Amino acid sequence: MIKEQIILGIETSCDETAAAVVKNGTEILSNVVTSQIDIHKQFGGVVPEIASRHHVEQITIVIEEAILQAEVTWDDIDAIAVTEGPGLVGALLIGINAAKALAFVKNKPLIAVNHIAGHIYANQLEQAFEFPLLALIVSGGHTELVLMKEHGKYELIGETLDDAAGEAFDKIARVLDLPYPGGPHIDQLSNKGVDSINFPRAWLHEGSYDFSFSGLKSSVINYVHNVKQRGEELHAPDVAASFQASVVEVLTEKTYNAAIEYNVEQVIVSGGVAANKGLRASIKKRFQDTGVPICIPPLELCTDNAAMIAAAGAILYEQEQFAHWNLNGKPSLLLT
Ligand code: KG4
Ligand code: ZN
Repeated sequence: MIKEQIILGIETSCDETAAAVVKNGTEILSNVVTSQIDIHKQFGGVVPEIASRHHVEQITIVIEEAILQAEVTWDDIDAIAVTEGPGLVGALLIGINAAKALAFVKNKPLIAVNHIAGHIYANQLEQAFEFPLLALIVSGGHTELVLMKEHGKYELIGETLDDAAGEAFDKIARVLDLPYPGGPHIDQLSNKGVDSINFPRAWLHEGSYDFSFSGLKSSVINYVHNVKQRGEELHAPDVAASFQASVVEVLTEKTYNAAIEYNVEQVIVSGGVAANKGLRASIKKRFQDTGVPICIPPLELCTDNAAMIAAAGAILYEQEQFAHWNLNGKPSLLLT
């Protein structure tokens, strides 16, 4: 049980500038997110320098808004938790420097949070963890299967060897002339199509929980080019449905196999791709006879936000694991 505490969370690892106030690691008092999607849309993806610049412009406003909406004062706040990595280094540094400055001036402990741990702890804002648990984190930057036997301890059992799942969605969307970020558009288009094109599934070696989406990506791109070269009409909904079916099947089967092997009590799916209707339905169906509960946080907690960073920070606060003033952004930070 987490002791009475109020934590300010700060997240700037990619293209969302976010701040949130969370009580006892579970209760959201405020959760403010400003997205830069509209700015990056014109470039078809996140431009790191532009992301950093917008974080600088937004960070103070977002933090002030989070405190205002939470109806707390600085005296009420026990600690400041900030994303240390993984992410874009220039973007991470904006959040880290804001957190350090405030922690120093307001005399609060500083907590460094792994962004992936944040995605997992988003679920704690909805319902309590039951260990051992398996978390599938699928977003624009990550595809990981993580086993947890206790709070704050993570065992990485699988990860992508190349593209992240969301990245694959975004790249295929681009080939189909859909706007950025492409995941939601592929998801919608899939509903109008049929899984009729046999795209590959990368199972990798027997028993592997790692993922690979680059072969699938090449296969879809080749298919689209070939159709166009032959002067035939491309049926984009079928391409979207067949591509999505491949991603969803691999994510579902690997999650299922890992959940059975490790005999878990709970399965958590988080990250932006957890919004995918096909994935949600497939995972729920695959587990329906197992009795293992599937937990998927609501969309606003699946995508990048600071409430999840404060929730993960609550465990570190409890364990008195505080960061030092030399805290730095770590673009490739591992989950340990
Ligand atoms: O978690 P998130 O907001 O940011 C990262 O940490 O990356 O995830 C964004 C990713 C994007 O690649 C986006 O295309 C994907 O999540 N996404 C989806 C859906 N909604 C968002 N992918 C598939 N289906 C969706 N419905
Ligand atoms: Zn994320």
